[in-house]
Formats: sequence, structure tokens, C-alpha cells
Amino acid sequence: MGKIIINGGNRLTGEISVSGAKNAILPILAATVIGGKESTIFNVPKLRDVEVMEEILLSLGSRIRRIDKMMWVDSKPIDSIRIPEELVGEMRSSIILMGAMLGRCGEIIISYPGGCEIGHRPIDLHLKALRELGVEIEESHGLLHCKARELKGAEIQLDYPSVGATENIMLAAVKAKGTTIIRNAAREPEIVDLQEYLNRAGARVNGAGTSVIIIEGVDRLTDVTHTTMSDRIVAGTYMIASAMTNGEVIINNIVTEHLQAIIAKLREAGCLVYSNNSSLKVVNTNGIRPIEMIQTLPYPGFPTDMQAQMMALLSIANGTSIISETVFESRFKHAEELIRMGANIKIFGKVAVIKGVKELTGVKLNAKDLRGGACLVLAGLAAMGTTEIDDIYHIERGYEDLHIRLQELGADIKVVK
Ligand code: EPZ
Repeated sequence: MGKIIINGGNRLTGEISVSGAKNAILPILAATVIGGKESTIFNVPKLRDVEVMEEILLSLGSRIRRIDKMMWVDSKPIDSIRIPEELVGEMRSSIILMGAMLGRCGEIIISYPGGCEIGHRPIDLHLKALRELGVEIEESHGLLHCKARELKGAEIQLDYPSVGATENIMLAAVKAKGTTIIRNAAREPEIVDLQEYLNRAGARVNGAGTSVIIIEGVDRLTDVTHTTMSDRIVAGTYMIASAMTNGEVIINNIVTEHLQAIIAKLREAGCLVYSNNSSLKVVNTNGIRPIEMIQTLPYPGFPTDMQAQMMALLSIANGTSIISETVFESRFKHAEELIRMGANIKIFGKVAVIKGVKELTGVKLNAKDLRGGACLVLAGLAAMGTTEIDDIYHIERGYEDLHIRLQELGADIKVVK
């Protein structure tokens, strides 16, 4: 299982490069199923969630080769329609295989993905949209059996700009008969990356990054080569690591445009942020100012996946800040761990009031979820004394060699297996 041990107080300085985006590569790996062709994908991060998706693709019959950050997938041999329950349980975002498998062979059997640490995570928007594309869905004993004799293009109005539902519809619509329009689509950059992969494979998708996406169905796809975009949430996490340790850190291999909401909030907190298109530097020399209000919103609003990390920063600000978590219903579990370090945080439903304290104190902690775990690492970097974080498998789902990157920047951090 392993634990992270941090002796806090070191100032982080230097340069690091960001890996490929977890939330881009997962839908792209699902998309490799559709065409029965070969995909060569670069900048693939080494993460537990990517390994789970690989295991699912192998269980369906795909062939996969991996050399460092390059992955080759041949989905021609796929001969199964059932996704292993234990793998869906480990990674609920495998639900986007529904659209891909329906596009490939018109059928899939997959277990209902449970909720997780941050909310009950319903998939009603996915199911409603797939039915509009002509999919028949039977739900029994926790299993979803989806079948479509013929997928037909449809005009779909999403009640909420759900990232996963947008991706599922795109994947199902790629080879549907006719045109599909998704309105109130999610606008996250990872959806633009998925569109780029699909179009390189011969699909006809337009509008990703806006709230209206149009997919014209095609008969077949081709072999494809693609380079995954870099991970904006990993980049944002390192930005906050610099800010919390009075550091001076340069982050390379990013798309600065994707980080504007985070840059704006760090500047509001008194940090200096210098940037060009693909790199930025975060400098903090005179402490952290409180932020009156941070509201998490769908992109391009402030990302919910950065909420926990921002709470760590604001717990040592010189004043009171407010965070409103509007996307998930229970994404404050990290607050109780920060309080054990001496933070002064009060939770009122989906609102957190953070009264900054002068210093946090290292204690034994438990990671409760992926971004909450990253939050505790950040707090440990700034805390006085030694912080021990257990259940670090949560963190390993979405951060590649986090402790090694932080060691390179001067942190006194190690993993004890
Ligand atoms: C994606 O999850 C990301 N995961 C999440 O990142 C991210 O937090 C989230 O988008 C929001 O940006 C991946 O891309 C693998 P949603 P997803 O559907 O698609 C509700 C991380 O830390 N909803 O946009 O599951 C839902 O309950 C992870 O990397 C419905 O009500 O997010 C939530 O409140 C965590 N019905 C809101 O919409 C539905 O059918 C946003 O969910 C679908 C969603």
C-alpha cells in the first residue's frame, strides 16, 4: 500500500515537466475500441488508472505494447462485449467504454459504476443521451446491458455539461447514421484532445471546446497517431506546491491557456506568475493573501479537480477565504485531515470557510481520494515537522512519480512501501 513521508519547510525551486493528461488519455484509450484499427499514442502518463484501462482493453481482446511514454493499441482482435466488474469498480470512468463499444459492435455489458469518495456520481445523463441515439438499455442486478441495432444521429440537449456524458455521446456518434448535435456540451480541453484523436482517425467531429459539438457519422475509421495533451491539474498542483513553500518553480510542457483560472486565483493570493504558451513560473516571496470566494465550475471556470489543492494553500493564508464546491456533493473530505494539522476550516454543506493559520503541523494522515491526497502532500510540504500520508494508492491513480518530481524541486519527501 505504501505511505508518503514529508519533512516540511523546504523551499521548492527549479524546473519540472508535466506528464500527459489522465483525463485525456482515458477517453482516448476507450476510443481506440471503435475502429478496430491501430493507434499509436505518445505522451501517455504512467498511472494506475491508465493501467486499469489497459487491463480492460486487453480483457476485451485488444493487443497493447508500451515503450516508456508511447503506447500502441490494436483493437482489431476485440471479441468480447463484457467489461470485467472488478475493473469498473476500480475505475468508474470506464463507463465511457459504453459509447465506444456501441460504436464498435452495438453491444456492451457493464456493471453500474458505483459512487466514489467525492459523490454518488450518477450516469442518468449518459443513459438518457444513449437512448436518444437508439440504444436499448436493460438494467438488472447492477448490470447494464446496452444494445443498438443501428445507432442514429440525434440532437441532444445535456441538462448539465457533464464531461463523461459528452465523451460517451461523441464516441457512440462517431459511426452513427447521420449527424449528432450535442448542446450544453462540456468544454474541457480534454474533450478537444479527444476530438483531435477521433478526427485523426477519420471521424468528423467539430466544436469541441465550445458548448455545441457536431458529429457527422462515418462508416469506418483508420489507423491513427496522436500525442496526448499535458495534464493541467498536475500542472496546477505543482503551481500550488511552489506557492505554499515560498518557492520559485518553472513548469514546462503545459498549455498555459488551460490554466488561466488557476493563474488568476494564485495572483489574487499574492503570487507572481510569469508565463509563455508552454511554460510558466510561480514565485511567492511574501506569504499568501486570502481569497474572498472561489467557486468551482465547469471549464473554463475554476476546476473542481483543483479545489482540494487550493484549500491547502488557503489554510495558511493571512485571512479568511471561502470555497464553494458546486460540481460534486461531497468533495471536502480533505478538510478534516487539514484540521488535524491545525487548519481552521468550517464546512457548511458545499461551502468551506477557511480561516488561515500561521503554520500547519505534520501528523499522520490518510488520503481519502485522488485530489484530496494531493492536497495533503502540499500541506505536508509547508507544515512544521513530519507528515505521514497513508493510502497513497489514491494519489498514484493520477500523479506520475509525484514524490520524485518534488524531490527534484528540493522537497524532503519519500515513499515507504
Ligand atoms: C470528469 O468526471 C473527470 N474525470 C473528473 O476528474 C472531473 O472532476 C469531472 O469530469 C468534472 O470536471 C475524468 O475525466 C476521468 P461530470 P465526470 O460528468 O465525467 C453530475 C479527477 O480527479 N452528473 O462532468 O464523472 C455528477 O454527479 C476526476 O481527475 C450527473 O448528475 O464528471 C457531478 O456532480 C474526479 N449525471 C457533475 O455532473 C450524469 O449522468 C459533473 O460530473 C453525469 C454527471
